[in-house]
Amino acid sequence: MIHRLIARMLPFLPKKVVWLFSRRYISGIHLEDAVKAAIDLDQNGAWATVDHLGEFITELAQVAEAREACLNALELLAREDLNVTCSLKPTSFGLLINFDFCYQAVREVVMRAGELGKMVRIDMEDATCVDRELELYRRLHAEFPKNVGIVIQSYLRRTADDLIKLASWHSDKTPVNVRLCKGIYQESEVIAYKKRDEINERYLADLTFLFSHGIYVGIATHDKFLVRGAYDLIENFGLSPDQYEFQMLFGVTPELRAEIIGHGHHMRVYVPYGRDWFGYSTRRLRENPKMVGQIIKALFIR
Ligand code: FDA
Repeated sequence: MIHRLIARMLPFLPKKVVWLFSRRYISGIHLEDAVKAAIDLDQNGAWATVDHLGEFITELAQVAEAREACLNALELLAREDLNVTCSLKPTSFGLLINFDFCYQAVREVVMRAGELGKMVRIDMEDATCVDRELELYRRLHAEFPKNVGIVIQSYLRRTADDLIKLASWHSDKTPVNVRLCKGIYQESEVIAYKKRDEINERYLADLTFLFSHGIYVGIATHDKFLVRGAYDLIENFGLSPDQYEFQMLFGVTPELRAEIIGHGHHMRVYVPYGRDWFGYSTRRLRENPKMVGQIIKALFIR
């Protein structure tokens, strides 16, 4: 009970206090912190995707920071001999202010990724962004098919239709690359499935659809039930490890991560960094209020 209450209060607590709860999910403030984490992961058999934290800007002038951060990350990552991609949130590129401006800025990043042989993943945000984020992907994928990927959220009622659209864009020359996750934003019952069993059922149905269309999937989950379901599907479809990867968040369920790697599957870890860690952290902590309780105990009960 108490953890749930604290989790709800998080956005109103002083930032310093929230940082105490958050630091296990954030690699650090600087790009170098993310690269260090990526090197460490590489030594432990995992790839990384780095994410410069930032979202919901209010002025287009703020886009330059997000664009420069991604470009700098790509340059630095290209110098390291690591399999690392970049993830970005289109709202931090002005998606909700001016679509064309956002498209041009993200295009610049994806084009540079293409020149450097890297890939950029477009994260999926709340339901008001989905149409625009799919359109962003459609256009960029048509131009740079191997350098851009998208995220699909299984909790959305619309997802089965979106997957049909994605499959129609997929071919050997223009491979679609999807990260499949449950979805993290708070949506209404009209828009999203709310029950855990329903979401899990949808997730495995979506994964089956993607595999049956030969689409590369980043299986992004820490849910053991879904991981086992994915193992079964991988076996049933007779897939080799270069046709999919598992993905997890930095700091979450490291034992399950090691188990998956131990079974010979590829694993990519989402490594966030940057000054703007507050929104990201409060979402993660609200998702797992028990952790708040554990940290409070560790802090106060000695
Ligand atoms: P679930 O929430 O049921 O968690 C399963 C178990 O994992 C829990 O019982 C707990 O043990 C552990 N766990 C989960 N979260 C934890 C936490 N924060 N701390 C500690 N333990 C935790 N969403 C989105 O809307 N758009 C996006 O672009 C992305 N991108 C993305 C990338 C990657 C690599 C991952 C792994 C996830 C996302 N997500 C996302 C988030 C995703 O939608 C979802 O909210 C979380 O992954 C939690 O769902 P699970 O499938 O892990 O199951």
